[in-house]
Amino acid sequence: MSEFTALNGAPASSFCFGTMQFGGGSDAAESEAVFKTCREAGINFFDSAWVYTDGASETILGQLAKAERDSLILTSKGGYVGPSSRENLTAQLDESLRRMQTDYVDIYFIHRFDDDTPLQETFDTLAGMQQAGRIRYIGVSNYAAWQVMKAQGVAAAAGTKIDVIQPMYNLVKRQAEVELLPMCLSEGIKVTPYSPLGGGLLTGKYAKGKQVDGRLAKDHRYAARYALKQMHQTAEDLVELAADKGVDPATLAVGFVAANPAITAPIISARTVEQLRPSLAAMTAPLSPEAYAEIAALSAKPAPATDRLEEA
Ligand SMILES: NC(=O)c1ccc[n+]([C@@H]2O[C@H](COP(=O)([O-])OP(=O)(O)OC[C@H]3O[C@@H](n4cnc5c(N)ncnc54)[C@H](OP(=O)(O)O)[C@@H]3O)[C@@H](O)[C@H]2O)c1
Repeated sequence: MSEFTALNGAPASSFCFGTMQFGGGSDAAESEAVFKTCREAGINFFDSAWVYTDGASETILGQLAKAERDSLILTSKGGYVGPSSRENLTAQLDESLRRMQTDYVDIYFIHRFDDDTPLQETFDTLAGMQQAGRIRYIGVSNYAAWQVMKAQGVAAAAGTKIDVIQPMYNLVKRQAEVELLPMCLSEGIKVTPYSPLGGGLLTGKYAKGKQVDGRLAKDHRYAARYALKQMHQTAEDLVELAADKGVDPATLAVGFVAANPAITAPIISARTVEQLRPSLAAMTAPLSPEAYAEIAALSAKPAPATDRLEEA
C-alpha cells in the first residue's frame, strides 16, 4: 500500500505526532521542544484539529512548521463541533488554514460521524476542497466500519475517496480489530490510530491506584473511557512484562499498535520531551513476533464480527 507523501514528495514517517496538547498541557516553549525532538527523530507527520486547545494547537503547529511546510504532512479535522455541513466545514477549514499559516492541509479528517447531515453534502464539500488544492487527502475519524463503507460509496459518486481513517486503538481498546482494521486491509484504506497509550494508562503510572497528576485523573471523559478494572490490570501486567524485558511499558504499548499490519502510522503524543522518549523509542525498535504475542496476550482479543469464537 502506498504511504502518504508531503507536497515535495517526501514520504511520511512511520509514526505521526499528535499535537492535541500544544497550547494546553504543553506551553509554547515545551511544544517547540517536543516538535524539534520529533523532527530530529525523523517525524514529518503531525496531527491537529480545529477543536484542539481553542485553536492554539493549530496556531503553534503552523508557526513551527512554516519554514519547511512542503516537506511536512499536516492534518486537521473539522466537524467535531457543529455539523459536517458545507457551511460549517468550510468555515472551520478556512480558520484552520489561517491559524496554520498555510493554504492547504495534507489530510483533512471529518472528526466524528454526523447523523444529521447527508453524506452527499459532506463529501461533495470535501471533493470541492480537494479540487481547489485546499486539502490533499481525505480522512474520517471515529466512524464505524459500516459508516466508512457507506461514505466511501458517496465519496466515489462525488469523484473522490476516503484515503485514511483515524480510530482509537491500543492494547486495552481493541474494538478496531473486529471490523475497522480488516476493512482497511481489504479496501486499501490507511489507518492512523490515536491514543496508543490509552491516554497515559499504558505507561503504568496509574498502577496499583497511584494518585498521579495525569489526564485520567483530570479529564472525566478519559476516566470513564478507561474505567474498567480489567484495563488497569492489563496496564499493571504490561509494567511487569516491560520490567522483565528491561524496557519502558510505553515503548511496548506503542510497539503493539505499530506492529499490526493494518496500521500505517500510530499517532503518538506527550506533554514533554521526557514523556515523548519511550514512545519515540518504539519507532526504531519494532517488536519481534514473540514479543508481540506476549503483549497481545495481556488483554482479551475481541470476538470476530461473526461471533464464531471457534473460527477466530
Ligand atoms: N480523532 C480523535 O478523536 C482523537 C482523539 C484523541 C487523540 N487524537 C490524536 O491522537 C494524538 C494522540 O492521542 P493521545 O494523546 O490520547 O495519545 P496517548 O499516547 O494515548 O496519550 C498521551 C498522553 O499520555 C501521557 N503520557 C505520554 N507519555 C508518557 C510518559 N512517558 N509518562 C507518563 N505519561 C505519559 C500524557 O498525558 P498526561 O501527562 O496528561 O497524563 C500524554 O499527553 C492526539 O495528540 C491527537 O492528535 C485524536
